[in-house]
Amino acid sequence: VTRFSSLGRDGPRLSPDDFAALRDLFTERLGIAFGAESRFALERRLRERVVALNLGSFAEYCDFLRHARAADPEWDEAVDLCTTNETYFFREDYQLRSFAAEVLPALALLSKGRKRLSIWSAGCSTGEEVFTIAILVQRSGQFDDFDVRVFGSDISKRCVAAARRGVYPPAAFRATPPDVKRDFFVEKPDGFHVVERIRAMCQFGQMNLLDAERVRLVGRADAIFCRNVLIYFGPQARKQTIDRFHERLYPGGVLLLGHSESLLNVTTAFELLHLKEDLAYRKPLGASRGSRSE
Ligand SMILES: C[S@@+](CC[C@H](N)C(=O)[O-])C[C@H]1O[C@@H](n2cnc3c(N)ncnc32)[C@H](O)[C@@H]1O
Repeated sequence: VTRFSSLGRDGPRLSPDDFAALRDLFTERLGIAFGAESRFALERRLRERVVALNLGSFAEYCDFLRHARAADPEWDEAVDLCTTNETYFFREDYQLRSFAAEVLPALALLSKGRKRLSIWSAGCSTGEEVFTIAILVQRSGQFDDFDVRVFGSDISKRCVAAARRGVYPPAAFRATPPDVKRDFFVEKPDGFHVVERIRAMCQFGQMNLLDAERVRLVGRADAIFCRNVLIYFGPQARKQTIDRFHERLYPGGVLLLGHSESLLNVTTAFELLHLKEDLAYRKPLGASRGSRSE
């Protein structure tokens, strides 16, 4: 009887206590902070997992996840049901214009001794942001004799697999200039394929931004894009992630966030970079390798 006590007419119900336990677990493991308004959305989205695992309640489901390793496929299921993967090519075009016109020339100067440009798109979803950055770098013509690497990471295995395929439906191009679509994609029956010369610049990996060891394996970066990811994080995860970005950036390297995100009340370790159409953050040239945000 107890086993089915939290089953409503439409299946298992997420009680306020179970919601609190699940919310805390997601914040701890994924960084994501769900507000009280998310209770019914989580119930709706995760109900199928409680049923698929043949569990009697959300409390059991929460226990199951708590004891599962990070690599357990059940965590992949939960991540895909609970995260927002919305993205498209050339999203936030004003920022990308500033990046191409002002940030890339600065990075060309910064990295000219190394002849190596390294950009990280953290939380890249299905890869559109990564390929957009690679296209901008190639079109700038300033890195032709450089070794260029654009690295995209996301916690979602499914998203990373889609990014590696590099094949997109028409909806992914809603903000893409027609000449870019013509020059950098090939239409085939299954969708638009990213051309090989752009694919060759890009690499993808699955990574939880809260996993300090994995993040350390990302090499040093000249620029980091982390757009529309930290808005979903709680304050502690946001601070941790930003500190790690600071550590990964070369001095003079640039951090670009989404339009509604800022480092206000997070850290003072970056300089504010006033671009013509946007704001970005720069690790000071004199900064040491580690974070100075404490
Ligand atoms: C809304 S998408 C943003 C995609 C792209 N950056 C953009 O702005 O178009 C947010 C992405 O963050 C990823 N994400 C959420 N929590 C994460 C975590 N702890 N570590 C890494 N990625 C995470 C999600 O899987 C999702 O693909």
